[in-house]
Amino acid sequence: MKDSYGRTIDYMRISITDRCNLRCKYCMPYGVDCVEPRNILTFEEIWAIAICGAGLGIRHVKVTGGEPLVRKDCCQLIQMLKSIPGIEKVTLTTNGVLLERYLEPLLKAGVDGINISLDTRNRNMYEEITGSDCLEAVLRGIRLASESGIPVKVNAVSIDFEEGPGCSWKSVAELAREYPVDVRFIEMMPIGYGRNFKTINHQVLLEEMEKEYPGLCRDDRPHGFGPAVYYQIPGFQGSIGLISAIHGKFCENCNRVRLTSQGYLKTCLCFEDGVNLREVLREGQAESETGSGHWKWRYQSCPGETMLQERLAEAMSQAILRKPAAHCFETPGRITEMRNMVDIGG
Ligand code: 5AD
Ligand code: SF4
Repeated sequence: MKDSYGRTIDYMRISITDRCNLRCKYCMPYGVDCVEPRNILTFEEIWAIAICGAGLGIRHVKVTGGEPLVRKDCCQLIQMLKSIPGIEKVTLTTNGVLLERYLEPLLKAGVDGINISLDTRNRNMYEEITGSDCLEAVLRGIRLASESGIPVKVNAVSIDFEEGPGCSWKSVAELAREYPVDVRFIEMMPIGYGRNFKTINHQVLLEEMEKEYPGLCRDDRPHGFGPAVYYQIPGFQGSIGLISAIHGKFCENCNRVRLTSQGYLKTCLCFEDGVNLREVLREGQAESETGSGHWKWRYQSCPGETMLQERLAEAMSQAILRKPAAHCFETPGRITEMRNMVDIGG
């Protein structure tokens, strides 16, 4: 569907868990509590929302977290999402730590692409950022995924560590030479713990890249529908993308909404605006608590299913119509989003 600014909204990011096996300082540092399981959407609830989304014109779903692969049966959910008529693409964002183990089942489930988050190839710096010594496992995951032939993107947040080049962007960019993967740098956004860090300005990064790689030129071939601006470098198999939310605002082309793991449909990263779909889903439902304290969701057998779908669709479309025109990261005082990125899913 179109929002009130005429933008086509066809992409939904779905966070399926607020848990993660890493502790990135800018996202989920040590000490951040996890949500009670009963407040996290069940797969059936996610599925119901995705069906409604497809009815409203969502064509691409990104499964994210936290770390989605730490949620049991993540691959089964991907298969469920793939089965929804209208959903053309289901992709995954992962930190890559568990990718070796789950690549096969992900491919079997029909995943259409994998984004792997990796900010540095320096082992000490990786441990400093994530709290874990898993760099090698992630690199093996990247190699295996790229060998499988599935589209792979590596996402690196451009963190400005003033003390120096320990997290040098160049070695991350070189992954696009070594493997047929696109490497995208993402300006650090002042959301959650990201507020405590500075972003590298991508205008400066582009100048550095031009110096380092003299043959670099704009790559206008389609790379999906995201906000990255791509560049090609002679001898590189993949492209380099810059996602410059701060120094290259792209809100006029925004195509997305985000579903938090707790079922809140967010319409802009910067603001808390949106609607609590978990409430819509669970209101008046035949729910019962089992001994383990989990909600039992009876979506498929629910007699009011059509009415519920209508209520969901109404809530979602109303929220989309209220989607803000643009973020206001340049005036931090106006940011109303207080959630952590680990709840939102990036
Ligand atoms: N700014 C930009 N990207 C972020 N991510 C997490 N927090 C931020 C932030 N404040 C990224 C992760 C991952 C993706 C899901 O979101 O590094 O690549
Ligand atoms: Fe986990 Fe990704 Fe957040 Fe790091 S950035 S803590 S890997 S969800």
